[in-house]
Amino acid sequence: MSSDQLKNIAHIQPEQLNALYRISRMLNSASYQQDLLAQALDMIIETLQAERGVVAAYDSAGNKFDIITARNVQKDSLQNLAAFSSGLLSKVVKENRPLLYHDASVDPSVSQYESIQIHRIRSVIGVPLRTGDDLWGVILVVSETNRNAFSDENLTFLEFFANLVSLARERLQRLEQLEDENRLLQKRLESETPIPEMIGESAAMQQLYQLIRRVAETDATVLISGESGTGKDLAAQAVHRLSRRKNGPFLAQFCGSIPDTRLESELFGYRKGAFTGAASDKKGLFEVAHSGTFFLDEIADISPALQAKLLRVLQSGEIMRLGDTQVKKVNVRIIAATNRNLDALVKEGKFREDLFYRLNVFPLRLPPLRERRSDIALLTRHFIDRLAGKKVTVSAAALRKLESWHWPGNVRQLENVLQRALILSGSGHINEEHIIFENEKDSEHHGGTLKDFEMKLLKKRLEEFNGNRTRAAESLGVSVRWVQLKLKEMEEE
Ligand SMILES: Nc1ncnc2c1ncn2[C@@H]1O[C@H](COP(=O)(O)OP(=O)(O)O)[C@@H](O)[C@H]1O
Ligand SMILES: [Mg+2]
Repeated sequence: MSSDQLKNIAHIQPEQLNALYRISRMLNSASYQQDLLAQALDMIIETLQAERGVVAAYDSAGNKFDIITARNVQKDSLQNLAAFSSGLLSKVVKENRPLLYHDASVDPSVSQYESIQIHRIRSVIGVPLRTGDDLWGVILVVSETNRNAFSDENLTFLEFFANLVSLARERLQRLEQLEDENRLLQKRLESETPIPEMIGESAAMQQLYQLIRRVAETDATVLISGESGTGKDLAAQAVHRLSRRKNGPFLAQFCGSIPDTRLESELFGYRKGAFTGAASDKKGLFEVAHSGTFFLDEIADISPALQAKLLRVLQSGEIMRLGDTQVKKVNVRIIAATNRNLDALVKEGKFREDLFYRLNVFPLRLPPLRERRSDIALLTRHFIDRLAGKKVTVSAAALRKLESWHWPGNVRQLENVLQRALILSGSGHINEEHIIFENEKDSEHHGGTLKDFEMKLLKKRLEEFNGNRTRAAESLGVSVRWVQLKLKEMEEE
């Protein structure tokens, strides 16, 4: 505070001090609002016997002013800065200090401003608004010829007011910042809360929920991997439902073991006469899914030709119907899923590397059930309530049995085992003996040598994978070479 200011404080009249006190209360109230600033400005105009006043924000990048609030003696809001002389506003900014003109119309440093003459401005005070060294605005108070001429003491009064406004603004900004932070925290909290329909509170699942929520906000392509029955379908639906495409369609296409031409015509559609049987034009699913999400399930199984076509969709967002010559733009978010190790398939040259990278923009890995055994109790409760339709209890021993199984079929298998247990129990209580796993009999009751068991298991897996040795080997955790050796042994016996 300058010595001039100190000198002037002594001369500030009681009614001005009173006004300052009331204004400080006003601007300090918990909910700072625009109209409070207008009311404060009304009090300034009244106290100084001025004609009008403005609180203007200064935009240094564009070198321009925006009205925060502007009032006249009739307590009207003014929308136009023209009544305030932009020359004077700029002068306060340029000189970065308070300015007072007792009689502006004859003062050579400002009398040339057109607005001074047009608006018959007699006396004017301009005060910079600062937070630290940052000049963020200007307050200007104007008196016309038939009103009061301002004094130095009025200037000091207005400087106090300017300080109060700056403090109030700072407080408001801090409040807003806190609010933003709060929203951010809220969001983070939200991302750790479960997704409806997806049961599980284990750390692995919470991490998954968080990733699902994050990626749902974007349009990024998602590649979901995980063993069969781990909830890949559910996860794909969750991504869609939590995205801004949620009101658009969600379409899924199973791509495993479907003849190539059929899959292609499903996905891309065709023109009449494109092939025998194409009696009329047909839209492909990519088109039907427009503005929504398209889920390509079991993506690993598609042919090289389809892989190339899919790559084009992902690169350009364009599709072409079979038998057509024109491309169409489609707006779909793509989610793909596989229970196989795509990375390994790429290395073996069975899956296009470029397509893999296009799909794998955002990978989501669903943990197998045996990696989150702590969720088994919750899932059991969930499925039993859903399947039984009445109150059914589960013994501690039964639950222990469930929790110690290795669950090769994951959640889907748990669902099946529980369904069977409900039927077997018949009553309202599930015991240990009602819990039966599909493969248990094979391994426990049939006896035989380890070799017998090995062969039996291998045969079963080969059946499961339609004789595909690579996949059977993959699922058994052995090399293809091992499978070939065993098969040879079998033949020789
Ligand atoms: N976290 C989960 N909470 C509740 N049900 C689940 C969960 N994960 C899977 N399921 C259920 O298990 C079954 C298999 O899930 P699905 O999404 O089809 O698995 P995937 O596509 O990986 O084979 C479905 O009935 C599904 O509702
Ligand atoms: Mg599935």
